[in-house]
Amino acid sequence: MCGIIGKIGVDNVAPDLIKGLKSLEYRGYDSAGVALICGNKIGRCRTSGRISALEKELSNKNPCGIVGVGHTRWATHGSPTKENAHPHLSPKGVFALVHNGIIENAENIKKDILPRDSLFSSQTDTEVVTHLLEKYYKEDPVRAISNTCRCLNGSYAFGILCEDFPEKLFAAANLSPLIVAECETGNYIASDIIAIKDKIKNVYGVYDGEICEVTLDSIKFYNSDGKEIKKLPEKLVAENSDAEKDGYEHFMLKEIMQQPEAVKNTIDSLLKDGKIILPHVKIQDSFWKKDLEKIVIVACGSAYHTGLVAKFVIEGICNIPCSVEIASEFRYSVPFVNEKTLALFVSQSGETADTLAALRLSKKQGAKVLSIVNVAGSTMARESDNVILTKAGREIAVATTKAYSAQLVALYALGIFVSEKRGTITADKEKSLITELKKLPVKIGETLEKVNESVKSVAREIFTVQDVFYIGRLSDYATACEGSLKLKEISYTNSQVYAAGELKHGTISLINQGTPVVAVASQRNVFSKTLSNIAEVEARGAKVICVTDEKMSENISEEYENIVVADTIEEFKSSLLVIPLQLLSYYTAKLKGCDIDKPKNLAKSVTVE
Ligand code: F6R
Repeated sequence: MCGIIGKIGVDNVAPDLIKGLKSLEYRGYDSAGVALICGNKIGRCRTSGRISALEKELSNKNPCGIVGVGHTRWATHGSPTKENAHPHLSPKGVFALVHNGIIENAENIKKDILPRDSLFSSQTDTEVVTHLLEKYYKEDPVRAISNTCRCLNGSYAFGILCEDFPEKLFAAANLSPLIVAECETGNYIASDIIAIKDKIKNVYGVYDGEICEVTLDSIKFYNSDGKEIKKLPEKLVAENSDAEKDGYEHFMLKEIMQQPEAVKNTIDSLLKDGKIILPHVKIQDSFWKKDLEKIVIVACGSAYHTGLVAKFVIEGICNIPCSVEIASEFRYSVPFVNEKTLALFVSQSGETADTLAALRLSKKQGAKVLSIVNVAGSTMARESDNVILTKAGREIAVATTKAYSAQLVALYALGIFVSEKRGTITADKEKSLITELKKLPVKIGETLEKVNESVKSVAREIFTVQDVFYIGRLSDYATACEGSLKLKEISYTNSQVYAAGELKHGTISLINQGTPVVAVASQRNVFSKTLSNIAEVEARGAKVICVTDEKMSENISEEYENIVVADTIEEFKSSLLVIPLQLLSYYTAKLKGCDIDKPKNLAKSVTVE
């Protein structure tokens, strides 16, 4: 993770580095730092904690320089202290370096390449890179960077200052995102275009070990061997404007409320003349009809939960086996995917390291690769032959909500598309699925209004408890998984999720008088079974909170705390049931006084494995 930025300009760049770092805080917020070349010397300022702490420190010191780099950290190696904060300096202070990624062979470099008596001032994997830079430096920084990178295993995006070249900024990247932008008041490097508040004239991606040398008037690129290469600017696909809360107390609440729009925009982009269209999917009809043997959905976290929901929809209408894999496990397992597999990758950021690695592996195995991503210019979008773009808009809160809902409808649309191509649904069924799909944005809006007050009151009852349980069956279980993750993630309340039928195989021993059990109960074919499981926990003293829809609520005891969402067809129920679960985590976290948009230990984009 981590976010890096660098700028060379005509005036002091420190304020722009700080502004940019604030936008990069979604990538990590354990510590922050900047380095500037002031006169002919590198000066740096680092703090543990957030950018606001760094800003305060800088305002006391008031450093000034026309070239600088900045960093916001999500700790991987070494605790989030000032000593481990970036930028790191080389032993003689010739280089300052910021890094996003992981150097996997840092310990071997210390043992095998650097002098035995080398002194390190941090526990980071990054510091070895500064030692290598100085070791290989003989008046040519690009050569030093190229020789250094040759020693590295792992991922990196570097921003580098060299004291001997006070009018240059250097960068290099491999498997970590990095862009270089030519702007009105100077030139930048950054992990994400959002960090650049200036008017952008041209933007370039830095990939595969490439190195970049930036001055005020020029940007030069070199391949990993240090040979100059020509690159064309990329199309500007993302906005670099700041997001606002628009009167909401938190981005998370704003994004929860934006779900009708996010879902509508996604559905609208996949519909034409009453049929599903997938504009960026180039798979031939014969593949769907004859070749396709299975679908494998690979993702992490909440995106993985969308896969768990989609499995039921896809298997139900496409008549094809569909498995769902956690990317970090899949990438190191025997890859049972081949040219007859549709490998589906779901990711908001399109940068998640494990999902990306799984994608590359599947491609190698010959699978048809399709990614569902929210960030159009992301690495996964670029590396996938087939893409479905969700239209949730930029998601700022670390906990995903609107992107999750947009992913769900994109997966439903894909299921309808594939079932139509395979001839596994009738024209009437297809029509009714599409009709109901189009109603979802309005129903999500209705549900948001309908459940808000009852969820707030449940939050007031549970915010002081230590543990909450979530149960459900089939797609209700998948929805419960997402609810449980949301609660843990932002309210730090321990919560466990179980397939409702599993409780009696051990877990029910944890249920005590008053233990809250959130039961998601909507699936008609297992409804009576779920009710029995609810009765079992109630008999042992649990406080039952039942999340269901209008039709099914008629069969649920009024003695439970019932949260009732709007009705839809079985296939799409999850899209409505998840709404009160998102709100429950939000209101619980609010009552506990948690930092909702930036929960501890987390970051929005998980670019390390
Ligand atoms: C939870 C959450 C994470 C992400 C996961 C995958 O609220 O946001 O679990 O879903 O880190 O991220 P993407 O979708 O960017 O691949």
